[in-house]
Amino acid sequence: MHTPTRRLFLGAGLAGGATLVAGCSGDTPSSDPEAAASTAVDPREWDPQDWDSIRAQFLLDPELAQFAAFVLSPHTRLLDAAIADHRDRLGRDTEDALLVRPANEEAVREAAAAFAGGDPSQYALTDSTTMGLAIMFGGLSLREGEEVLTTTHDFFSTRDSLRLLKLRTGAKVRRIDLYDDPAEATVDDMTKRLLDAVTPKTRVVALTWVHSSTGVRVPIQEIAAELRDDIILCVDGVHGFAAVDVDLPDLGCDFLATGTHKWLFGPRGTGILWGRDWEPLTELIPTFSGPEGPARLTPGGYHAFEHQWATKDAFEFQQSIGRDRVVVRTVEQASQLKDGLAGIDGLRVITPSDPAVSAGIICVDIQGMPAVDAVEELRARGVVTSATPYQTSYLRLGPSIATSPEQVDEAIAAVSEIA
Ligand SMILES: Cc1ncc(COP(=O)(O)O)c(C=O)c1O
Repeated sequence: MHTPTRRLFLGAGLAGGATLVAGCSGDTPSSDPEAAASTAVDPREWDPQDWDSIRAQFLLDPELAQFAAFVLSPHTRLLDAAIADHRDRLGRDTEDALLVRPANEEAVREAAAAFAGGDPSQYALTDSTTMGLAIMFGGLSLREGEEVLTTTHDFFSTRDSLRLLKLRTGAKVRRIDLYDDPAEATVDDMTKRLLDAVTPKTRVVALTWVHSSTGVRVPIQEIAAELRDDIILCVDGVHGFAAVDVDLPDLGCDFLATGTHKWLFGPRGTGILWGRDWEPLTELIPTFSGPEGPARLTPGGYHAFEHQWATKDAFEFQQSIGRDRVVVRTVEQASQLKDGLAGIDGLRVITPSDPAVSAGIICVDIQGMPAVDAVEELRARGVVTSATPYQTSYLRLGPSIATSPEQVDEAIAAVSEIA
């Protein structure tokens, strides 16, 4: 029987003449083009079963442990090669390249559906989570006095989209706490608090799948299962997408906006809006893509098409590893990190330890130390982290396929030094 070699896994979807990308650790820059070509690394030579090989796909500085990689996608070498192919074609004959725009858009939708479930017609293409949220909340028709039920934990992009929805329609926006202490959040309590707050006037529920302020994962499925059928459930899904192993149609929401430039590690400046059924939304931005379905909600204007079209390759990269394996890898490291951090004096882990109410984000409070200072101290120790952009700011770490369990131990040691 022929056994395919795993080392030479050809990234699906990469056009024939894939660009060679140099720069793996150990490469020596050379001014001799022939010597450079002979030492260049073929981005297609990688092993989706081997976590070191997967990590080597990232251009990230290997000297640093990258626990903020999820904030804005560090491209993989395969992704940059795919982008370069599209860019070359656009550069050589732009008009001709634009002729394939509809086919390339459809290919992204098909890859999205293959990765995250449902039908390609349920995926509109956007530039970011924020753009998806604006299209979602900006496209809803509400009457004065009708109510949007939301929470106090959401990111600015949801908050401000709802402010604009209220201005435009006169709808009322009501916010509730889903938990008092994030570390103690549970599926049952969050579900109960949300459902108890629904009134006969509630027409829309606006939630965030994973809170970037605390790392708490909201039980969208459990809430959706109990919500009245006439209520539209809208979700900012960015820190759950590609970090939680579930098909979007099974999540139970009606609309979900997410960037594909965070946990998916897709091209920067890309995202999707998933819709169970597009009927409730009026388009906000004129489209160039067509009058029906997801095309209607895909903003027109010319984009950085080399990025948008290469989103297909990012979906395929993740799929060749396996969505379930990626999520297990992320959650295992997150649990290792939470366990290690929990033992450090003077430090509080804000994110629940239970994987049922958390995902890849881990927020930490170091007594007497502002989060931004902790970020600086850790960087000096070779560990890259971020500070949450909220009024109460926490130190935030996100293990992913760009980090390793050994680096998790390094991060725990570095945090214990500064705490
Ligand atoms: C919960 C949440 N939603 C939305 C965003 C914004 O995402 P994007 O840059 O894709 O608009 C962020 C952070 O960047 C976030 O934490």
